[in-house]
Amino acid sequence: MSNDAKVKIEWGAGKTAGKAAGNTIPAVGFGSYLATEKNGKQTIKDALVAGYRYVDTASFYRNEEEIGEAVEEAGLNREELFICSKVWPGDLGRERTLASFEESLKKLKTDYLDMYLIHWPKDNRSDDKWIDKVRESWALMEELCDEGRIRFIGLSNFLPHHIRPLLETARIRPVIDQLELHVGYMQEYTLSYLREEGIIPQAWSPLGRARILGSEIVTKIAEKYGVSNAQLLLRYLIQREIPVIPKASSVERMKQNLDVFGFSISEDDMSFLSCLPEQGWSGEHPDL
Ligand SMILES: NC(=O)c1ccc[n+]([C@@H]2O[C@H](COP(=O)([O-])OP(=O)(O)OC[C@H]3O[C@@H](n4cnc5c(N)ncnc54)[C@H](OP(=O)(O)O)[C@@H]3O)[C@@H](O)[C@H]2O)c1
Repeated sequence: MSNDAKVKIEWGAGKTAGKAAGNTIPAVGFGSYLATEKNGKQTIKDALVAGYRYVDTASFYRNEEEIGEAVEEAGLNREELFICSKVWPGDLGRERTLASFEESLKKLKTDYLDMYLIHWPKDNRSDDKWIDKVRESWALMEELCDEGRIRFIGLSNFLPHHIRPLLETARIRPVIDQLELHVGYMQEYTLSYLREEGIIPQAWSPLGRARILGSEIVTKIAEKYGVSNAQLLLRYLIQREIPVIPKASSVERMKQNLDVFGFSISEDDMSFLSCLPEQGWSGEHPDL
């Protein structure tokens, strides 16, 4: 991978089949959760000018309108962009997911999504019928793929025991599982399951939403490579072939987070960073 936001990580190997075969996604995308609270669409415009071509959003973030406007005003061709949105678990089931999808498209001012994810497997954690709703939504998402209204479909916050029952009935396999992944919270069991199944793990909160940015250990290793703590944390994930979607408010930080291809972390430091005690976890879990 080189120093380019448009660098793609290839999938299509292993068991991934159907429409996903042989396609790519950008290694670094822009995370938009809480990104527009202060400056609205300007932050998204800044991110596009800084070089981001992948924007991660969700109906839950309530910023799809600002993103749609920013993209329109940036004057970029739609095909240059990779836009991902997500359906909230309260909107699972065929009709509700379809309505939420149409709403997302309208707000984003587009007629297709590059990727659409199920945000969490369950709305109510004690709901023992959750898989029925997930399967219904998934079947609809497969149809939307067939119609060319979504390019790729995937999951978010699904653990192996949520994915297995979906794979029993899925016609199109999920391309991605977007999970909380960062130094201090690497969910290794889930990662190896995803690798076996040919599903790409993508990291949300790759900087641990700043909770691990100030860690002394991270600072010491980052100094050794002459990079910022954020760059070290992002590079760690990219070296593990995990695409990242950091959120940042200033143009300087946005650019810094894209500039993670000019150095390489040694095997020993990768090992050390992989074996740290758990830290920086958000406390969010799909079942608990
Ligand atoms: N699927 C899901 O359930 C889920 C859940 C959470 C998040 N996400 C997605 O993942 C994206 C990223 O996660 P996140 O926003 O939670 O956290 P994050 O990207 O790990 O961290 C963002 C925090 O790090 C700071 N930061 C960013 N770049 C920095 C730099 N170079 N130097 C110093 N500080 C820096 C930001 O500060 P400033 O903003 O002040 O610059 C912000 O406080 C979200 O925006 C969202 O798109 C998905």
